Parts: sequence; C-alpha cells; structure tokens
Amino acid sequence: MAILPIIETPDPRLRVISEPVTEFDGALKQLVADMYETMYDAPGIGLAAIQVGVPKRILVIDLQEPDPEDEEGKRVLRNPRTFINPVFSDFTEEHSVYAEGCLSVPEQFADVTRPAELTVDWQDEDGNRHRERMTGLMATCIQHEHDHLEGILFIDHLSRLKREMLLKKLTKIRRAA
Ligand code: NI
Repeated sequence: MAILPIIETPDPRLRVISEPVTEFDGALKQLVADMYETMYDAPGIGLAAIQVGVPKRILVIDLQEPDPEDEEGKRVLRNPRTFINPVFSDFTEEHSVYAEGCLSVPEQFADVTRPAELTVDWQDEDGNRHRERMTGLMATCIQHEHDHLEGILFIDHLSRLKREMLLKKLTKIRRAA
C-alpha cells in the first residue's frame, strides 16, 4: 500500500468529470487500498479517486464513529465502505446541514445544505451491485464525495462571498506554511 499525494484546489484536475470503472481487476483493488491508506493518514472520512489524480468513479468512506464501548471516547470504530460507479435516487425533500471540510480544501469548514436521505446504487471492488438507503452523516458524506466525480467542490455550494472568504483564508495559511 502507499500514501498518495492529495490534489488541492485550485488544481484543475479537481474539475474533471470522472469516468465509470469498467475493469474490476487487481489494479482497481490496489488503488482502493492506497486510497484508504491515504484517507486514514490525512486524516479524513472520505476520498474520491480524482483527489489522488485518478479520474475514475471510485469513493472510499469511513465515518470512523466513536466506539460506544470506549468510555474515554478516544477509540473509533473503523467501517471502510467502497462505492464504485455510485448512482443516486429518491432524495428526501427534507434537508440537513453539516459543517463540511475537504482534504482538497485543507483546514476550511463551512455549513452545506443537502438532502437528508437518498438511495445509492453502486458496485463493489468485484463488480457486484448493491443498493442502500443512506441517512445521517453517511448521506451527507457520500453526496460530498460524489460531487468530486462531477468536478464539484463543497465550496461551490456556498455564496460567492463566503467562498471567497474561505479561499482567502486558505491562501493565508499556505503563505504562512
Ligand atoms: Ni472533498
């Protein structure tokens, strides 16, 4: 496995529309393993292949929620979920708001409103098809990650003023580094 470099805004590759996966081979499994290693190292809860420069419709997500059996609240439960060629349907009218961040827009967070629930069809690493109703943080996270496949960043959902403020802050952080 390998930790891959994560592309950051304004890299134009983040605006590319990713292509469907058609070969469910060893190279795909290797890429998915590397994406997990990269995501955990960052650390983050989701990563799209284009964020490591590969324009394929592949998402890895692990919400890493706190382990309820750990009284100190330090341990998290790992639950890696791989979504290949994800397709959405049946969005709820109801929306939820989460403070989102993105490994490609480092250290910046802003409230984004998205449908609270949706149905997702996808394929796993072996090409098998799955369908599941997504709710809560998973619903938000998978919509954020799927945006990457369409060349969209979470900052695109903000007002222009808010987006410009956030990008200015990012420039300042980079200069200081
Ligand atoms: Ni992101």
